[in-house]
Amino acid sequence: MIVASAPAKIILFGEHFVVYGEPAIVLAIDKRARASAELRTDKRIYINSVDLGLSGSFMEEQFQPELGGEEARTKLEPIKIATQKVLHFSKKQVGVSIEVESSIPVAAGLGSSAAVAAAVVVAVSRLLDAKLSKEEVFRFAYEAECFVHGTPSGIDPTISTYGGVLLFQRDRGFKSLNVEGDIPLVVGDTGMERSTGEQVAIVRERRKHFPSIIDHVIKTGREVALKAAKALETGDLNALGELMNINHALLCAVGASNEPLERLVYAARKTGALGAKLTGAGGGGCMVALCLPEKLEKVAEAIKRAGGTTFIARKSSEGAKIES
Ligand code: MEV
Repeated sequence: MIVASAPAKIILFGEHFVVYGEPAIVLAIDKRARASAELRTDKRIYINSVDLGLSGSFMEEQFQPELGGEEARTKLEPIKIATQKVLHFSKKQVGVSIEVESSIPVAAGLGSSAAVAAAVVVAVSRLLDAKLSKEEVFRFAYEAECFVHGTPSGIDPTISTYGGVLLFQRDRGFKSLNVEGDIPLVVGDTGMERSTGEQVAIVRERRKHFPSIIDHVIKTGREVALKAAKALETGDLNALGELMNINHALLCAVGASNEPLERLVYAARKTGALGAKLTGAGGGGCMVALCLPEKLEKVAEAIKRAGGTTFIARKSSEGAKIES
């Protein structure tokens, strides 16, 4: 049996604006999705998602649910797509059993689906002895991601594949940022699941109604991300915090925030966070606060009192990789 894993991510700057080609800053964190892969004696793709409590098998386009009924089909489909891409690449006609386990909150802005897809691609490619470049791992994970939401920028599968801290730009690739120091972060989860595709559609609609205004907001997002890249490389946490607050305001302007997120963001700021913003698609999901290390616990407590669940996130240089 082959086991592989891939990291969750936090977008520090530029979510949503990245869909329109502007740069964004993303870091891989120390929460990972794990996928194990085994050969089968038949030609099915069997998938068991332990955390979602869903399982079933695919034979061509037919689905046979085991746990979770028809809902299982939609949720497991991206994993099947990722597996099929590797099977196709390897030109092997075999069946594969896959089990997925993850410590990443689902539909919360932390890139859980991309991490699962990247882990599956790496596990299945090793199982089938298919030598994939990182670019191919990214591409197959990206194709699975397209099923989850129609027009992804590619930022999630990129960070899950490569890890580290990246300045990412759609259709232009990415640049690794040289971040030496710690980036002390608390993540607060509103517990509200939401769909990235719907959130992207909200922004698209607002841009359609007020193009001249929203285009300025998006361009300002670009300036914020570029200044933040410099602040990250020089370790200027105060500037980073302030830029996070500005970025959050821009995300409010395009319609990505909501009341539960605002409560957590303000609780963090009131308790002394250097900056706080929603992260990912918004409309629920997670926010992130940057703090001096001695303030992390206090800020986490304040976020909890405001209704969120929290964890302290550390940056991770490790992208998708084989575990055993
Ligand atoms: C999702 O993690 C981030 C968004 O910018 C969508 C995307 O980039 O595909 C909201």
